[in-house]
Amino acid sequence: MHSIPYLQQLVTKALASKKYGHEPVELYEPIDYIMSLGGKRLRPCLLLMACDLFGGDIQKALSAAIGIEVFHNFTLMHDDIMDKAPLRRGKPTVHEKWDTNVAILSGDVMMVEANRLMMLVDDSILRPVLDAFNETATGVCEGQQIDMNFESRDRVSVDEYINMIRLKTAVLLGGLMKIGALIAGASPADAALLYNFGEQLGIAFQLQDDILDVYGDPEKFGKQVGGDILSNKKTYLLIKALELAKGGDLAQLNHWLTLTDFDAVEKVTAIKNIYARLGIREQAEAEMNKYARSAMQSFKAINLPNERKAVLKEFADQLLVREY
Ligand code: IPE
Ligand code: IPE
Ligand code: MG
Ligand code: MG
Ligand code: MG
Repeated sequence: MHSIPYLQQLVTKALASKKYGHEPVELYEPIDYIMSLGGKRLRPCLLLMACDLFGGDIQKALSAAIGIEVFHNFTLMHDDIMDKAPLRRGKPTVHEKWDTNVAILSGDVMMVEANRLMMLVDDSILRPVLDAFNETATGVCEGQQIDMNFESRDRVSVDEYINMIRLKTAVLLGGLMKIGALIAGASPADAALLYNFGEQLGIAFQLQDDILDVYGDPEKFGKQVGGDILSNKKTYLLIKALELAKGGDLAQLNHWLTLTDFDAVEKVTAIKNIYARLGIREQAEAEMNKYARSAMQSFKAINLPNERKAVLKEFADQLLVREY
């Protein structure tokens, strides 16, 4: 078994030496820019861990791991346009630093590059790996569109929200686990169990992201705190608040949701005050813990000795106490 720091430095090195292209500069510079801003790099590490879990050769999984990180960064580049986000990893977003068209096309070519990297797996598993990857990528697009649709909807149920985050975020964690397992030659049944683990973990991860969007430390978070509130995102927090608010709180909530011309700080403060009165943060944390527990149940069901599972278990635990 390889340690977390060993796998992390393998990923860091591979990403540092990766070249994307030169001309036209408007196409490739934004890729170097977003890829150099860092981030936690947890997806490629998780893919390598999934491979390692089943005794696979992690060198054979490295290109796919990098491909997953390139794909993830492509989704962030486009997500920031869609969310009108000014900041990513503490720096201006690509569409702010360049412009929207640049961010669209740079993102597109990153998606192509991710496919190319995926294709470097052994021929014997190429078809199932690409199949898992494409299935995942389609799911992410579906989730992102549903997320957009929800912004202008009056009410969204918790179930609808969970399904949306399952698609936009969690299928990628599930998919990369499955790809890592396939590269290791795991059985389809084991690959499916690991997929479930990744998916449940991904749901917990996005719930935490939604909590951090409101309560994160601006210094550490690297994104605009309160961004979800400003764009009326139907996160678990807002959905629960709409469900529980009564009288004056409900009237205020609806007032802020319909107001088009507002002061950003004032809106975030007002909504946070309502959340505090309703105990929304605690409920969101309880929901997140529910999915974290469910992820661990799926992980337990995998028929391998606990020593083999220790690294992935520790990494998953760490991922749910992040601050950025
Ligand atoms: C951000 O993902 C997008 C979500 C799915 C919440 P990360 O929080 O993994 O972002 P980086 O790569 O570490 O910046
Ligand atoms: C991100 O959801 C999901 C994808 C990028 C596919 P968010 O919009 O919450 O991600 P952040 O908070 O901007 O990283
Ligand atoms: Mg988004
Ligand atoms: Mg976003
Ligand atoms: Mg977010």
